[in-house]
Amino acid sequence: MSKQFDVIVIGGGPGGYIAAIRAAQLGFNVACIDEWKNAKGGPALGGTCTNVGCIPSKALLQSSEHFEHAGHGFADHGIKVSGLSLDIDKMLARKDQVVKQNNDGITYLFKKNKITSFHGRGSFVKAAEGGYEIKVAGAAEEIIVGKHIIVATGSNARALPGAAFDEENILSNDGALRIGAVPKKLALIGSGVIGLEMGSVWRRLGSEVTVLEALPTFLGAVDEQIAKEAKKAFDKQGLKIELGVKVGEIKSGKKGVSIAWTNAKGEAQVLDVDKLIVSIGRVPNTIGLAADAVGLALDERGAITVDGDCKTNLPNVWAIGDVVRGPMLAHKAEEEGVAVAERIAGQHGHVNFNTIPWVIYTHPEIAWVGQTEQQLKAEGRAYKAGTFPFLANGRARALGDTTGMVKFLADATTDEILGVHMVGPQVSELISEAVVAMEFKASAEDIARICHAHPSLSEATKEAALAVDKRTLNF
Ligand code: FAD
Ligand code: NAI
Repeated sequence: MSKQFDVIVIGGGPGGYIAAIRAAQLGFNVACIDEWKNAKGGPALGGTCTNVGCIPSKALLQSSEHFEHAGHGFADHGIKVSGLSLDIDKMLARKDQVVKQNNDGITYLFKKNKITSFHGRGSFVKAAEGGYEIKVAGAAEEIIVGKHIIVATGSNARALPGAAFDEENILSNDGALRIGAVPKKLALIGSGVIGLEMGSVWRRLGSEVTVLEALPTFLGAVDEQIAKEAKKAFDKQGLKIELGVKVGEIKSGKKGVSIAWTNAKGEAQVLDVDKLIVSIGRVPNTIGLAADAVGLALDERGAITVDGDCKTNLPNVWAIGDVVRGPMLAHKAEEEGVAVAERIAGQHGHVNFNTIPWVIYTHPEIAWVGQTEQQLKAEGRAYKAGTFPFLANGRARALGDTTGMVKFLADATTDEILGVHMVGPQVSELISEAVVAMEFKASAEDIARICHAHPSLSEATKEAALAVDKRTLNF
């Protein structure tokens, strides 16, 4: 007799493992199947986010920022550093250790919540008495049965046609996080989130970095004023970003990679580099899921089709995270995981897509929630804007980190906050105040009336809210 579960989660990334924990908290008998293998072939729970995404990229961003501070920033503080050198093996080993701590943390959480963990590939076999038969193909093969199935199989890096990832010369996010020696010249195709974060890491460590972007605008989804400010900072750092390009033939050989491309003026160019990172977006992953076996519907992008509640076309089959529509973000996947577990329990799980924050962990950091000024203009919505520069913030001056600003957009009549956009120091942390405010439908005045600690970067948030009513106190 096959093992029976109330809930089987396929995929142990941030969507899947959080869904499994919430379902277990609600009293269900839960299994989670995940196929990720660590370097020794063992399980490594946490998916893309933990193994080759959010966590290792932030570890390297931190290490490379320390290196840059030591090399260029400390002198301003009267700290002299001599004999600075880089131990890249140690840096990568530390990153791997941080990943392992997170893998182990999830394993512990599964034990604590009595979740049965399977290491291997999960695929649909058929609808069966009591739910669905799922095949687990790991060290051994077995069939398990689940009343509810939550698919959380994530996404994979999109390759450029004619330039398959070899993870030696042509790298996806995976190879980009384990380059063993600092490349003298590095190219990135795509100046989206990965392009900017990974480009920043390797530039700080000494690479000459060129980013080739197809679109004529920089960070089109970001508020224009914020994107412009960020671009100025990246230009100053020496991150060479070419917009409006057309990438042609890519040749990879012993000496590195040669990229033919056309610039915005239509001039043919060739860029020879040691390594190329391709970061042109990600594709939903349903490889090996055998969606056909049960008639699970996919859309034209290959994502699993779901409604607003993450229900698929099949009864009791749900899908969440990168494998469905919506932003490919770990916290979006987690929120959907919690909401689905609660819906299975008959509760009213809810995800507010209007208040999902975005953060790009470059220096300066970029963070936002809600609508951009260009979106409000396109909608014809009457709004007021208020900005406050970090240059006028005491804490930012003390930190020696005054690039950027906070910007509020509020409804012209009701003063309700419609969007908050930030570029500057530690805005990845500051943005949560704006998320809370928007979740509670606060007005800009509500934030302006709240006491913020002095001296703190959060005072820039208060001042930007005051700026909506043209009454900043420190600018
Ligand atoms: P995934 O994390 O992709 O997990 C899916 C899991 O399912 C994997 O372990 C996979 O092996 C497993 N799987 C797939 N198919 C099967 C199968 N048939 N059987 C068994 N197991 C299967 N997001 C942020 O919010 N913040 C960040 O800072 C951030 N940084 C990123 C940096 C990089 C370099 C990258 C690439 C991504 C980053 N992301 C970030 C995006 C984030 O990683 C994803 O949005 C998130 O991981 C999606 O979670 P998920 O659970 O849907 O899927
Ligand atoms: P992206 O969608 O952020 O950026 C891709 C960029 O590549 C776009 O600017 C696009 O115009 C460009 N592009 C596409 N095709 C091209 C071509 N042929 N030539 C040149 N440019 C081309 O995708 P990215 O950076 O790969 O990241 C994938 C996703 O992972 C992100 O969208 C995000 O959801 C997630 N992520 C989130 C992070 C965070 O939250 N801090 C960090 C890294 C990734």
